Amino acid sequence: MKRVRSALLLSALAAGCAGKPLIPAAGVNTPTSGQMKSNPDEGDTDKNASQMLKEGRDTFRYDTFGSEQFWGSQLGLHKAIAGQAHGGTGPGLTPKQALNLGLKVDSGKLPKIVLEAVKGGSLNLNDPEMTLELLRADAVVGVKGFFQDKQLVSVGVRCALCHSTVDDSISKGIGSRLDGWPNRDLDVGKIALLAPNLEPLEQAVGADEATVRKVLSAWGPGKYDAELDQDGKGFRPDGKSAATVIPAAFGLAGVNLHTYTGWGSVAYWNAYVATTQMHGKGRFFDPRMNDRAQFPAGVKNGFNDMRSSEDRVTSKLAALHFYQLAIPAPTPPKDSFNAAAAQRGAAVFNGSAKCASCHVPPLFTEPGWSMHTADEIGIDDFQASRSPDKKFYRTTPLRGLFARSAPGFYHDGRFPDLRAVVAHYEQVLKLNLSDAERADLIEYLKSL
Ligand code: HEC
Ligand code: HEC
Repeated sequence: MKRVRSALLLSALAAGCAGKPLIPAAGVNTPTSGQMKSNPDEGDTDKNASQMLKEGRDTFRYDTFGSEQFWGSQLGLHKAIAGQAHGGTGPGLTPKQALNLGLKVDSGKLPKIVLEAVKGGSLNLNDPEMTLELLRADAVVGVKGFFQDKQLVSVGVRCALCHSTVDDSISKGIGSRLDGWPNRDLDVGKIALLAPNLEPLEQAVGADEATVRKVLSAWGPGKYDAELDQDGKGFRPDGKSAATVIPAAFGLAGVNLHTYTGWGSVAYWNAYVATTQMHGKGRFFDPRMNDRAQFPAGVKNGFNDMRSSEDRVTSKLAALHFYQLAIPAPTPPKDSFNAAAAQRGAAVFNGSAKCASCHVPPLFTEPGWSMHTADEIGIDDFQASRSPDKKFYRTTPLRGLFARSAPGFYHDGRFPDLRAVVAHYEQVLKLNLSDAERADLIEYLKSL
């Protein structure tokens, strides 16, 4: 910082030498004197930035936007979690089952005594009462339990449910929070299926119970379908699930459009998700979606112009946007790739493999318009055709690939590993890579 300041000072001095008096006479208020003082707006901007960061982080991690009305009051998910013995229904959800569904536990939230029990292996992971204990401590990432006295009376969901995970530092699924990392273990479909009453979901999607069950069961870990309750399409024409892999919410600054198919900005999408997907209370507006042919379920649900009785979303969008843009892509562990090969691979990426024609470093997406047709990247247009623009895929920014390798790459995880991704491009872009170049390119991708 100091060095930057003195560089600025030097250039100011140079400017002073070039004619204008450097230090104006006292009391003379020339534009030059304004330039020499530190800008008072700077302090306000810095203060605003740290305030936005803090507020945005809180919203991302902890806000349910009132979604407990849907997940709790309507679906009754809390009843299945609590179990009959604790005022709910059925056997209840044990911590072991919760972890197997991909739910994560933030060890930073655990009371010391519980943390010791987890570390020592003496916490009974087969007792649903322990799940309630974790919810009381607010330690289940992305899920908020509402309690009256000792009873769980509702649950709501947060952004962190899908877009955060933990570092497994205590044990698998238990550790420190990693914001922005997609939770690729999370089985959202199976979690929703725990609900005793699926009717609100049937209504949202416009399908009967059997269909909703079939669709949700087909998602699998790390996947969710954020367009299902708009177009009612549970499956692709090839019969596979229409769900997409949960994307990273890190490394997004500088990227023009968001989602795999470029629905809008981060702020646009946050309003969309908080209202139409999490079923929080707020406003959302998109006249492009007032199209009964493309979005029959969405139009019926009024998703193109949502006005809840109260708005718990709009006032949080600015800080939430700001926070996400501030989350850096994580650095891959040093031993997870071969550094020398990665360095050679950079030349392949930028040269003969033509990757950098779209994935422009250091953003690894296009500065500017980053949308491509299905043909350009050699895949089907099913998912692209579900977006309001109906035809594009967005060039995915590639930093932090290692944190989202399972269940696979591309919007639906169709390529199980980087080898398969590169093989695809070799065919589509008619590349002629040697075995060595191919191996180096893959090491480079792992290093991003
Ligand atoms: C139930 C899981 C789930 C929840 C909860 C959720 N998201 Fe997402 N998010 C997704 C999926 C899946 C996509 C990809 C959607 C698509 O491309 O069709 C996505 C896309 C995104 C993107 C675009 C990323 C990119 O690469 O452009 C951002 C940003 C984002 N979500 C932020 C949020 C925020 C903020 C919240 C809370 C308001 C939230 N999400 C809640 C699953 C979720
Ligand atoms: C014509 C533009 C274009 C070119 C050239 C291109 N990509 Fe892509 N890339 C895309 C688009 C668009 C996507 C998103 C596809 C999807 O999600 O279905 C993508 C996705 C990816 C992904 C998956 C990221 C994820 O998180 O799922 C990887 C990895 C990737 N590209 C690597 C490469 C490599 C390596 C090359 C060079 C061999 C390359 N790309 C060349 C446009 C391009």
